[in-house]
Amino acid sequence: MRVALGADHGGYELKEAIRKHLETQGFEVSDFGTHSNESVDYPRYGSAVGSAIIKGEAELGIIICGTGQGISIAANKIPGIRSAVCSETYSARMAREHNNANILAMGARVIGVGLALDIVDIFLKTEFAGGRHANRVNLISSIERGETI
Ligand code: RB5
Repeated sequence: MRVALGADHGGYELKEAIRKHLETQGFEVSDFGTHSNESVDYPRYGSAVGSAIIKGEAELGIIICGTGQGISIAANKIPGIRSAVCSETYSARMAREHNNANILAMGARVIGVGLALDIVDIFLKTEFAGGRHANRVNLISSIERGETI
């Protein structure tokens, strides 16, 4: 599986730890930056990872900023992107199983590296359950198309 990574300066160091963790496990990784602690604008990195997923260049994405919120909001502006901010493993599992989230967002100033890596592992290994949940995710797509549901 190919995983797209992106972070602003607030998430840079956690992104580096996640990249190494994923490469050790044999995942293919596309790293869209940032590549230093220098201050940058988080929407660019949420956009880059979201676009890669929509183009089929990666199956799932992981995005990180200080809180996870800004970069997730930015990614969610791309139709077809379902980015979930997670600070514990239960939400990460449910975001995949029930919501078919295609991006995991985390806040590097919110959680530690150990918990973040556990959240990543759960998110990447959990499959979408489909069934009644597919109908609900389809309704989200309807909203994106401007339909009244
Ligand atoms: C950058 O200082 C910070 O605002 C950003 O990393 C993120 O937390 C925004 O949501």
